[in-house]
Amino acid sequence: MPRFSDETIREIRFRNNIEDVISQYVQLKRAGSNSVGLCPFHSEKSPSFTVFSKSDSFYCFGCGAGGDVISFIRRAEALDYPEAIEFLAKRAGITVVQNEYDKETAKRRERILQMNKEAARFFHNCLFDEKLGKEGLRYLTEERGLSLTTIRYFGLGFAPDSFNMLTDHLKRLGYADYELSTAFLAGISPKNNRPYDYFRNRVIFPIISTSGDIIAFGGRVMDDSKPKYLNTSDTPVFKKSRNLFALNYAKKSCEEQLVLCEGYMDVIALHAAGFTNAVATLGTAITSEHARLMTRYTKSVVISYDSDEAGQNAANKAFIQLGAVGLEARVLQMSGAKDPDEYIKKFGKDRFAELLKATKSEFEFKFDAVLSKYDINTTDGRVKALDEAIRILSSVSSRSLRDVYIGIVATRLSVTADSLKFDVERRIKKNDGLNKRKESERMIAASQGYGDRVNPDFAKNPKAASAEEQILGILLIHPEYLREMKNRNIVLLPEDFFTEFSRKIFTSMVSFESEFDISLLGESLTVEEVDRLQKLRMHREELSDNKIETLTALIGVLKDSAGKKELTLEELIASKRKKIKKDET
Ligand code: CTP
Ligand code: MN
Repeated sequence: MPRFSDETIREIRFRNNIEDVISQYVQLKRAGSNSVGLCPFHSEKSPSFTVFSKSDSFYCFGCGAGGDVISFIRRAEALDYPEAIEFLAKRAGITVVQNEYDKETAKRRERILQMNKEAARFFHNCLFDEKLGKEGLRYLTEERGLSLTTIRYFGLGFAPDSFNMLTDHLKRLGYADYELSTAFLAGISPKNNRPYDYFRNRVIFPIISTSGDIIAFGGRVMDDSKPKYLNTSDTPVFKKSRNLFALNYAKKSCEEQLVLCEGYMDVIALHAAGFTNAVATLGTAITSEHARLMTRYTKSVVISYDSDEAGQNAANKAFIQLGAVGLEARVLQMSGAKDPDEYIKKFGKDRFAELLKATKSEFEFKFDAVLSKYDINTTDGRVKALDEAIRILSSVSSRSLRDVYIGIVATRLSVTADSLKFDVERRIKKNDGLNKRKESERMIAASQGYGDRVNPDFAKNPKAASAEEQILGILLIHPEYLREMKNRNIVLLPEDFFTEFSRKIFTSMVSFESEFDISLLGESLTVEEVDRLQKLRMHREELSDNKIETLTALIGVLKDSAGKKELTLEELIASKRKKIKKDET
């Protein structure tokens, strides 16, 4: 049962002009009846992102992202479908009428949030309970040096060493066993099917969303036992790949700069020391969703990870994610302490402020790592350092920046800038060649549907699968043809489809009462599925011939090729290779 009526979706689309909405994220330039710009979903230098005003849709010819204004917002704002609808409704000043919600789901989410709030209150009260929370309070204040103000500000708590205190408390308040387990506050014992407290004998860090709801918890042991942290897994109100610890506080002061840490304790120590723009990912490496989320609140991110090797490696990954969404990123490095929390404790906040002023760019960070890895006073060390420096330089895409860096490396490793530049450019050419070769293999594989996540059945019979997708493409452009099928002038049934993906789409198409509209399917599709449909439509639109005869011919191809065996990927690449070789000679 869809949560929103067709009217609501139509109204939302009508009142949110796609160009206006996208203009707030992308600088668009007119190109005929369309407009183009740099894709916000992948990094590119020449614009392949296109908005089609005629069909109220967008498509990126570079990365294949596409769809309507709703799927744009799902991506750009990292929202799920109902959240995107709410977002656009708010933007257009429409109130989505309450009775249109899938009331059950909304109510369930609301109850989990309420229950989480009760749980947070319970943990907090336990921390200050003389008997129950003594150890926890001692740990936080004496061992971790937190003030009562900080403890209250973050709403920290303590989960007593008991299997049933929280569970009993919440059940007394009327929450059911399944609610407790859905929210990850309780596990269900396989022996007696009864719930038991998930967090026990741990200090508790509540995780608060930017709208102020308590959406999850982290719990730390007070000694060296394992696991050090327990965290709420994904629930209907929480996704760890999309939330940042303390962003609810940091959002007020991070417009210029956000400090990204690894741990809860780092963030708490930083806020307590006045660096209120600190956040952390939640027991996971930074995801593209995190990066996109940050773009809503800041321009620039300082990666402030642990000083150990793991932390420094993670910084490399963070640079990639942050760069991909266009955020300026720098890295803060420290010595003499394992993480920001320890650093501030040892050296004080003024010294940390100095570190913040002495952050490094991605290039400086990487080149410094090379310099500390090799002894450049030996020939061997210098040669190796030079080789790595060339690799780093060859991945800097801005020419002028590259020139600046080449100058730095040349001086440092005592070579001439000219010869270094020559080597870097040669490496770039070689990389391009390698990339092209990889790309062509990937294209061959992809054209046959290998590694296709949206339509995983594709490779099993590419001919049939491709015919199906072309059929869908035509039907997306000409939904009126669907009537011919309902009238049985053209016979095509869901069971004629070979791949599950195409069959699913076709089934929803023919079961539409009113004229089919891809936007109305939105809630049942992932953004990647929407991309694919938009791509299919684009492909057919580029070919002008989308007559009904073409459709029937494709149906013929589909029916003919069902059940035929195809080459494996290895056979296929081998045969294409042979062909390319033959063409070359
Ligand atoms: N983490 C986790 N599960 C673990 C270990 C770590 O979820 N078993 C996550 C937590 O979010 C933690 C972050 O990774 O905050 C960083 O881990 P670590 O540096 O080990 O912990 P700190 O937060 O620095 O904790 P402490 O200072 O108390 O040792
Ligand atoms: Mn740490």
